[in-house]
This record gives sequence, structure tokens and C-alpha cells, in this order.
Amino acid sequence: MSHPDRFLLAGVMGWPIMHSRSPKLHNYWLERYGLVGAYVPLAIPASGLEAALRALPALGFSGCNLTIPHKEAALRIVDEVSPLAQRIGAVNCVVVREDGSLEGRNYDAFGFTASLRERAPDLRFDAGPAVVIGAGGASRAILAGLIDEGVPEIRLINRSPERAQALAAEFGGPVRALPWEERGQALHGAAILVNTTSQGMVGEAPLDLALEALPVDALVVDIVYVPLETPLLASARTRGNRTVDGLGMLLHQGRPAFEAWFGVDPQVTPELRAMIEATL
Ligand SMILES: NC(=O)c1ccc[n+]([C@@H]2O[C@H](COP(=O)([O-])OP(=O)(O)OC[C@H]3O[C@@H](n4cnc5c(N)ncnc54)[C@H](OP(=O)(O)O)[C@@H]3O)[C@@H](O)[C@H]2O)c1
Repeated sequence: MSHPDRFLLAGVMGWPIMHSRSPKLHNYWLERYGLVGAYVPLAIPASGLEAALRALPALGFSGCNLTIPHKEAALRIVDEVSPLAQRIGAVNCVVVREDGSLEGRNYDAFGFTASLRERAPDLRFDAGPAVVIGAGGASRAILAGLIDEGVPEIRLINRSPERAQALAAEFGGPVRALPWEERGQALHGAAILVNTTSQGMVGEAPLDLALEALPVDALVVDIVYVPLETPLLASARTRGNRTVDGLGMLLHQGRPAFEAWFGVDPQVTPELRAMIEATL
């Protein structure tokens, strides 16, 4: 799609923001699909979020992504929140509509499940229980994604048990909170294991989880992507489990956002992945 009279604009608001890989991702796609425009990092402190979001239509932006610390605050600022973003409790994408109003969406759950589909095309989400470690912001999107894909049982485990219990009560359905001390045994019979904590990230300790009880045909997923192979994924790979790193989630959540802003459904290709990997 070409817009001869318009320079396309989108960006990512966060504080800090310069670590974000989203500008590289979206600018790659703008060029790849021959669109004239730019995706820029926007350093916006919490106190400036509302004014910055309200300025988007006047500046000609198609929308923006939101990252730390804005994802929850934006829920209360935008004019309409999609049902999924409401359920997740966070907005990671804002779309400027024709009339200048703002719609808040969340594509993290899509990014997560699309990444699993790409890396494990034969995966059946209804094949068995999933174990989700962590009950923070990212965990909410993962839970929504797994529930909507029909995972029959989700064992949710968090260091601070009250957060897991609160999430299990909120999401309901297949989600059951289990104590942190039972995380090893909880892996019995699991088809999918997901780490949604920050453990294993560069500068953090590895996730403290013994994998002995995990079936070797289970898929092990880490949403941390720096490093690409966390200690959890390395242990899982060594014992024969298939693994999925966190980079695919980041890349795939960008697709529906790019399409909503610019009308093109962009592809996640090996070339794109290698380009972003080189920046990690
Ligand atoms: N791949 C992607 O696209 C993507 C997207 C979003 C996030 N992420 C990554 O996901 C991770 C979590 O992000 P978030 O936004 O959910 O963070 P968050 O809301 O701050 O939640 C952090 C989670 O980590 C747990 N945790 C922290 N330190 C721990 C420790 N020492 N032992 C056990 N658990 C510990 C917390 O447990 P407590 O409740 O007990 O503190 C909580 O469950 C980050 O590394 C982030 O970079 C990746």
C-alpha cells in the first residue's frame, strides 16, 4: 500500500526506551514493503503519557506501541479498550482511528501463540496441561493466549503465591494456582512449560526449577530473550525437550500492530529474526 501524500508514522512510548527493538523491527518492515514512513522511539515519562497519546492524531501518527511503565496506565486514557486488552489488563498497541479517537489493544497473547505455531507447527494446544511459572504482567497475556487456544489445564505457579491465586481467581476456567514449593512435581504430565518470570534474563539468576518430572516430549518456552538461550532452555534442550525462545513473541506481536496502522500483514522471516538477533 502506498501513501504518496503521507509520511507514515508510528512509535513506541516507554521510559526508558532506547533499549527497545521495536524501531528496528517496524522500520525493517516499512522498508521491506516499500512504505514511506518511520517508527520512532518516544521517551515519555509516566506524567506525560496522556498528553503524548492525545497528541498522536494531531501529529499524524497511525498509532504506537506501549512498553514499561505505560501498559496499564493507558487503559484509563484511551477512548476504547478491546475486550482482550481489558481481560489482560494492559494495552501494548494504540490505534488512531479516522475520527482521531484512540483504541487500545493488546497483541502480546497473539505474539506468544504465533511464536509457538511458528517454532512448533505440529503443537496441539489441547494435548495436555500447561505449567506457567510467574504471575506478573506478561503472565496475564500468556494465560489469555493459552486459555483461548483451548489448553485444558493451566498450572500457575509464582514465587509470591497470592499473585498466582489472584490471577487464577480472575481468569478462572482451566487456571489453577499451585504452591511455589510444588513447582517440580507440577511438571508431571505437562505438555507445555512456560517461564514468564524475569529469571534467566541477563543479570538475573537462572529459574530455580528441576525438570526431572517433565515429559521429554513437552515443549519448553521462555519469554525472556536476552539471552536467547536461557539456562532453562539449555537444560531442557540437553534432556531432549523442544524449546522456543522469547524472541518470536516479540517479533510476532508486531505483526497485527503493523497491519492495523499501515494495512500490510508483515512476515516474520529468518532474515528479520537474524537482524534482530544480531542486536541482542
Ligand atoms: N518475549 C516478549 O515479547 C516479552 C514480553 C513481555 C515480557 N517479557 C519478559 O518477561 C519477563 C517478565 O516480565 P513482566 O512484565 O511480567 O514482569 P513483572 O510483571 O515484573 O513480573 C515478574 C515475574 O517474575 C517473578 N520473579 C522475579 N524475581 C523472581 C525470583 N527471584 N524468583 C522467582 N520469581 C521471580 C515475579 O514473581 P513475584 O510475584 O514473586 O515477584 C513475577 O512473577 C521479563 O524478563 C520480560 O523481559 C518478554
